[in-house]
Amino acid sequence: MASAYFGIDCKVYMVKVSYEQKPFRREVMRTYGASVTPSPSMETEIGRKINAEHPGTTGSLGCAISEAVEVATHTEGYRYVLGSVLNQVLLHQTVIGLEAKAALDKYGIKPDMIIGCAGGGSNLGGLISPFMGEKLRGENDYQIIAVEPASCPSFTRGKYAYDFCDTGMVCPLAKMYTLGSNFIPSANHAGGLRYHGMSPILSQLYDDGLMEARSVEQTSVFEAAQQFARVEGILPAPESSHAIRVVIDEALKCKETGEEKTILFGLTGTGYFDMVAYQKYNDGVMTDYIPTDAELQKSFDTLPKVNI
Ligand SMILES: Cc1ncc(COP(=O)(O)O)c(C=O)c1O
Repeated sequence: MASAYFGIDCKVYMVKVSYEQKPFRREVMRTYGASVTPSPSMETEIGRKINAEHPGTTGSLGCAISEAVEVATHTEGYRYVLGSVLNQVLLHQTVIGLEAKAALDKYGIKPDMIIGCAGGGSNLGGLISPFMGEKLRGENDYQIIAVEPASCPSFTRGKYAYDFCDTGMVCPLAKMYTLGSNFIPSANHAGGLRYHGMSPILSQLYDDGLMEARSVEQTSVFEAAQQFARVEGILPAPESSHAIRVVIDEALKCKETGEEKTILFGLTGTGYFDMVAYQKYNDGVMTDYIPTDAELQKSFDTLPKVNI
């Protein structure tokens, strides 16, 4: 989803597959007054171009960004807002890390591991920021793990390269781990985190070996979500459940080795808007899809050639 101005007149371009799979997120936005259009649409020049080049496409965040930018730059009084990836969004999200750190400090607890889901990287970037500061200054060490879907594996299978932030290639380039701005995750993917790239800040930290990344398949993510819901009484968002999957795996490893570790993780949202995905999982019709190397290569071939 990318929105053009959250205020008096808000127009949201929502990834077509999410528009269909996440009708309740769509209706929340409409209730607050936004008009919501599935992307790629036939309303914008870039949307028509993407639809012509990828007939029947279910869209991607990169397509929605291009459409929102086109509308914002062509409509009087509109501004464009992106909800992830960019440095200022990570800065806003540092409140998550600052509050988590203050709470842990109050009780004298130091986490050994910090785990978060990573789509564009904003919640994880915000969560780890105060801890990463300590790690960089050599004051404390933390094992930090980004968790992404196996169907959109920007960190674990992407390239660290300059790329467009959007499919229409109208936004500036960013150096990041990317699958190529042309990459569109498989339509069966229901768990969010569908962005082709990754926050430039997190990309640099990952490339410097200061954090790790894991990719997980969606059926195992929903299995973790179900277990978490039954144990904690909290229904997690599918995105958050990527982190929960790895938290459970790491906790089980500790159980085997007898080690004691404190794990901090980001619970980024509620699952109540994603019951269509939960229904698929509960009905046993959810499937996994991992892109082949050849599919990824096709998208890497579209990376801009940059000489620095
Ligand atoms: C509930 C929830 N958690 C996490 C994310 C991941 O985004 P990011 O990696 O930018 O934090 C999203 C993205 O839409 C989301 O909806």
